[in-house]
Amino acid sequence: MLKRLEVKIIVLLALILAVMIAVYGWWTGSRQQSVYIQALSDNLRVLSYNHADDAASYIVTQEYAGLESHMMNAASMPDVLSIQVTEPDGHLLCNIKRSSRNTLPTLSYAARSIPVPSAPKPDLRRDGNQLVSWAPIFAGTHLGWVRMALSLETANQLQAATWNSSLQIGALWIMVGTLLMIVVVKRPLRAVRELSSFAQDLQDHKGAQVSVQRGVYEIDLLADALNHSSTQLRDAEQRLLAEQERLTVTLQSIGDGVIATDTGSRIMLLNQIAEELTGWSEGEAKGAELGQVLKLGTEEEHDEAMAQLDCVLQARRTLELPGQHLLVSKSGARRTVTANGAPIIDSSGQLAGMVLVIRDVTEKAAIEAEKRGLAQQLAQSQKMEAVGQLAGGVAHDFNNMLGVIIGHAELALLRTDTSGEMHDRLKEILDAAKRSADITRQLLAFSRQQHAEPKVLDLNETIARMLKMLHRLIGEDVDLSWSPGFNVSKVRIDPSQLDQIMANLCVNARDAIAGVGTINIYTENVTLSHHDQARMVDLEPGDYVMLVVADSGAGMTREVIDRIFEPFFSTKALGRGTGLGLATVFGIVKQNGGNIEVDSEPGHGATFRIYLPAVHDVAQETKPEGARPVGGTETILLVEDEAAIMDIGTTILSGLGYTVYAAGSPEQAISIAADDSKVIDLLLTDIIMPGMNGRDLSERLLSSRPGLKCLFMSGYTADVIAERGKVEGDMCFLQKPFTMQTLAAKVREALGGSTPTN
Ligand SMILES: Nc1ncnc2c1ncn2[C@@H]1O[C@H](COP(=O)(O)OP(=O)(O)OP(=O)(O)O)[C@@H](O)[C@H]1O
Ligand SMILES: [Mg+2]
Repeated sequence: MLKRLEVKIIVLLALILAVMIAVYGWWTGSRQQSVYIQALSDNLRVLSYNHADDAASYIVTQEYAGLESHMMNAASMPDVLSIQVTEPDGHLLCNIKRSSRNTLPTLSYAARSIPVPSAPKPDLRRDGNQLVSWAPIFAGTHLGWVRMALSLETANQLQAATWNSSLQIGALWIMVGTLLMIVVVKRPLRAVRELSSFAQDLQDHKGAQVSVQRGVYEIDLLADALNHSSTQLRDAEQRLLAEQERLTVTLQSIGDGVIATDTGSRIMLLNQIAEELTGWSEGEAKGAELGQVLKLGTEEEHDEAMAQLDCVLQARRTLELPGQHLLVSKSGARRTVTANGAPIIDSSGQLAGMVLVIRDVTEKAAIEAEKRGLAQQLAQSQKMEAVGQLAGGVAHDFNNMLGVIIGHAELALLRTDTSGEMHDRLKEILDAAKRSADITRQLLAFSRQQHAEPKVLDLNETIARMLKMLHRLIGEDVDLSWSPGFNVSKVRIDPSQLDQIMANLCVNARDAIAGVGTINIYTENVTLSHHDQARMVDLEPGDYVMLVVADSGAGMTREVIDRIFEPFFSTKALGRGTGLGLATVFGIVKQNGGNIEVDSEPGHGATFRIYLPAVHDVAQETKPEGARPVGGTETILLVEDEAAIMDIGTTILSGLGYTVYAAGSPEQAISIAADDSKVIDLLLTDIIMPGMNGRDLSERLLSSRPGLKCLFMSGYTADVIAERGKVEGDMCFLQKPFTMQTLAAKVREALGGSTPTN
């Protein structure tokens, strides 16, 4: 650029010089030409007068030959183009012509006359490239004319020569001038060039110092001023950069997302966390509307949040958006955030925009939700535990009573005539008692006190065998689909309990489907991690088999879901549901170390998921077939603090052929056993008794009577008793209430399974 300037200046000056020289050359040439023509005219005038005088003498003497030769001489002058001598009327006396300066003059008689001036006066005029002179010939009278024409070629050549020499001198001048200019202009130009490159450096942020060749005063001043400005500029720039660096580092170090906007809510800045949260890079987001980049919750929530943030700009006050919000990023990722905004006020007190701080609280929110869930689950399981204990206690006592009723009713039936009215009534009593026993059994199941004989079984096989029964239960309008999971692990559960679970869940599903619908049953292996414990407060992490019963029925409200496992909770019409179905299922699942979950919404069906611990050690438990419930002749020591049970037990066992020693307390039993003369084959004792428990009693008796067989009975389950440390795993156990059949069978089993020969 500077080079161009330099060239421009020189070319311009050279042009001006050239024009000036050209004008000067032309002017000088013209002047010289006119001076030359003037001189030539004077000569011509003199010459033509002289020749007119000479011609007069020749004409007077009529020596025309002499005239011709005289004129020929005259015409041999270099610039003469023609000489004519005429009579006054223009009749030619002599006509000499020459075509150019360099040719010889010749006489020509082609024309007879030429036009002549009207008056006999001398005349001189320029005619094109010729100077023409008319001189009248006088000898007393007007004898004619001498016309002479001189070529102006020499004058023109003179002008051209002057012009040329001017140009040559001019060219020389231009060269000299240009050289001079280069020398003169070079120094300041170099300084300007340096200043210019310095300015370029400044622009490129190189922060240079001007070092021009000193000497041109103004440029020196300029250089000093620029050097000073440059230093100041560099310092300011460095300060600004340091400030920016600090600001950037601070912004990026903040653990929260930071977004700054202008007063029109358009994004100006986004830190890295904000980029990650919104999915927008700073480059993309710059200039975009805040609402476009920050998507908070649903459309409604978003609009409300934006309106609130607008208040930060309008009212110039800080604002914390209440609660937590769902932030949806550009890619659709969702995070839970809190956000607050503050106005940016500049040093002059003007509003410059808004700064938003967005905190990612996703993990915290999840932990809080988990905590809430755990607390709820704990409260629920504590409630169920308490209800279970209450129900179990009532059922246990009630069971004893039912045992008595059933026993006496069965005995009475044996002794009444089968055709009599009394027999029918006793049967009614027995039936009612058995139905009541069913209820207490369900309650015991709920309170996990139901006696169970768990077996390792294949859930798929067992359920497949139940399908026929389930089809019958649910009727034809409901479509039952069964999808056994692949390679499902074995579980340990009493098959009859599994029956209860499936029957209750399917019947409930059928009841929830008014008319036509589907029930899907499927199984699946699942592994629960620590993470799932939030949902399954009672379950250890590990492998489980999930059994799912899902229906397309009416579904349930949250309030109903919260209470469905409570015993006697039912939404069904009076007499249609006892509210014990799910309580039973719950108790059974818990008794087997599992858990039950339910998902449901009104109108969207219900899904029950049962998790049972997977049994990997698949050694099938095989229990010996129970001995046929028949009687015997052995001697039994029956110990029972409940008089009514002792009474019925004695009656049944005696009826079966056994010899029975009845004891109302452990002490009484010890005293009976102390009598060595009495043979005792089996000790049949209640476990929980005042004073001494059944197990201690058996140990005491075994010390004096080794080989004594023992059968323990209780209203509590073997598990519960085992938990309380009152019973060993492999001991014989009889669940109360018992029927004659079960008592007979258990006694036989305890005595060794062999049927005595009567
Ligand atoms: N699959 C289901 N769909 C909708 N609601 C259900 C479902 N299963 C259970 N419920 C609700 O849970 C309540 C309790 O069920 P539960 O089986 O314990 O008692 P019930 O069916 O009412 O009586 P029952 O003792 O005869 O079983 C039901 O009354 C019903 O409101
Ligand atoms: Mg039910």
